[in-house]
Amino acid sequence: MQSNCFFSMLRVASSSVLLGGARYYSTATKGGPSIAGVGDIIAVASGKGGVGKSTTAVNIAVALAQKFKLKVGLLDADIYGPSIPTMMNLHAKPEVSEDMKMIPVENHGVRCMSIGFLVDKDAPIVWRGPMVCFCMCFC
Ligand SMILES: Nc1ncnc2c1ncn2[C@@H]1O[C@H](COP(=O)(O)OP(=O)(O)O)[C@@H](O)[C@H]1O
Ligand SMILES: [Mg+2]
Repeated sequence: MQSNCFFSMLRVASSSVLLGGARYYSTATKGGPSIAGVGDIIAVASGKGGVGKSTTAVNIAVALAQKFKLKVGLLDADIYGPSIPTMMNLHAKPEVSEDMKMIPVENHGVRCMSIGFLVDKDAPIVWRGPMVCFCMCFC
């Protein structure tokens, strides 16, 4: 279940922690890539599907929001099989702000963004490489 999962950047409330049974984790070095307005980033990824990435990501996000009272956003980067809308029980399309930015939808204190909000879950979609890259930049 956990063999392909890893976490990068686990700094919560100024301390390094090991969450759950994660096998691999590392703390990002200062001066690395950053996102404006975002203090800390936890990436949950693996080289294969069905290993529990979404389950792990949702549980970390909700725990950080509710237990640690942190301001948390959850970006679902799974273009091919987004399950975050279902797991977070969110089914509304995001509103668009005046400056044409999608406003994340929120549940359990976590603001979420997923391609699953934009496409019909039963509709077939063909994604090509450049479209996937563009989509992630847009989110
Ligand atoms: N810790 C766990 N133990 C057992 N089953 C799990 C665990 N975490 C997730 N699962 C189950 O494994 C399946 C795949 O989980 P999911 O989070 O969707 O994986 P991924 O996002 O990596 O594709 C789901 O049916 C989920 O309920
Ligand atoms: Mg998933």
